[in-house]
Amino acid sequence: MTATSMEELVSLAKRRGFIFQSSDIYGGLQGVYDYGPLGVELKNNLKAAWWRAMVYERDDIEGLDAAILTNPMTLRHSGHEATFTDPMVDCRACKSRWRADHLDGDACPGCGSTDLTEPRPFNLMFKTQVGPVQDGDNFAYLRPETAQAIFTNFKNVLDSTSPKLPFGIAQIGKAFRNEITPRNFIFRVREFEQMELEFFVKAGEDEDWHSAWVEMRLDWWEQQGVGRSQLELYHVPADELAHYSKATVDVMYRFPHGLEELEGIANRTDFDLGSHTKNQGDFDLTAAVEPNKDSNAKLALQDLEAKKWHVPFVIEPSAGVDRGVLAIMNEAYTIETLENGSERTVMAFKPHLAPIKVAILPLKRNHEGIVNKAKAIKNDLMRLGIGRIFYEDTGNIGKGYRRHDEVGTPLCVTVDFQTIEEDDTVTVRNRDTMAQERVAIADLPNYVINNMRG
Ligand code: GAP
Repeated sequence: MTATSMEELVSLAKRRGFIFQSSDIYGGLQGVYDYGPLGVELKNNLKAAWWRAMVYERDDIEGLDAAILTNPMTLRHSGHEATFTDPMVDCRACKSRWRADHLDGDACPGCGSTDLTEPRPFNLMFKTQVGPVQDGDNFAYLRPETAQAIFTNFKNVLDSTSPKLPFGIAQIGKAFRNEITPRNFIFRVREFEQMELEFFVKAGEDEDWHSAWVEMRLDWWEQQGVGRSQLELYHVPADELAHYSKATVDVMYRFPHGLEELEGIANRTDFDLGSHTKNQGDFDLTAAVEPNKDSNAKLALQDLEAKKWHVPFVIEPSAGVDRGVLAIMNEAYTIETLENGSERTVMAFKPHLAPIKVAILPLKRNHEGIVNKAKAIKNDLMRLGIGRIFYEDTGNIGKGYRRHDEVGTPLCVTVDFQTIEEDDTVTVRNRDTMAQERVAIADLPNYVINNMRG
């Protein structure tokens, strides 16, 4: 089950502390959101799942965490200064601005006037002054994609880890785009996070690797609870490809507002490494790149047998963290009608993504024996290192279950008189089945671990 509208998700996100409008008390800042107490856990869990799949489970991918402030030269030679634009139109009647390719017809969506300017390119990159002198030259860009720093660090990673092709560099981090019309909650925002892999392969093997990465990424989304039936692949037509791409496959998800891009998987050829390399004449490049007199690097590999330098191709799976969070919240959103006719809202997150893994609920909040036992259980379970174990002493177990259903906590553990007076067991209540069973405290760590799978 999914939400029937974006409003349902926005409302739950605010009510339960997942996502808030940024600078809310001052009226907000358009296209900017903050992640609340549960949102930060969900987002961190999603990023950790990506990092585990990309870096820890493989030996051919290394991680990177590069700076957001970017030397303008990087984004000049990457082609972003010249081409990272969206077509913009102004409404002469109400002075609003719109993305020309998002207009439905030739009228202003704000006031209905058809007195619109011709579309003109609008560069999406944010600039910021660097240092105290404001002379126009001392600026940096906030990176519009994390990818460029992977390319500019190519040699650093190569020299420090000596990988052999194929190999990859993975990075998760913020990216900024001055979107003309941010909209649809956290779907299109001005500040967001990306999870990007640049996977370097031999030219000629690029198309097979491209197909392989599309499959691997679909499998990964399925493991996060976004099944294939909810996804469609869009093979981007030649006239829509980014300037660096030979082929791009977009993974499209059925968001509450429609089928839209969740992740893009591009074959960037030898364009980027070639563009950032000095003396491109040293070796053959398939991509048409501008000469580069500013770089002092040769972002290439030496084939010792053939005694030749060559620039690898790169396959890039690039996923949006915020769009991932939105898709996962939408997939998890479930309204169930219970036997007694009442409704319950459940966020049926995969356990590894759930913001809270286990809630510990003492039956009586001021009974010393029960409280101490509940706190000791929390401490024990925390040692498992599986994420947030939450002690909550509101004393109303029924309300606690409902609240934890709504935030997606897979297990609630209730500590009662039987625990401390009789047999050292607790009641464990399962979010999905609502079944309750008595479990010995000694068996609880294994019980919890077994329930965190799948
Ligand atoms: N390095 C390649 C690249 O940046 P992209 O298709 O422009 O490619 C990759 O962006 C992903 O980043 C998208 O699939 C989307 O998930 C996310 N993304 C891009 N722009 C975004 C925005 N304004 N708000 C939220 N996510 C965005």
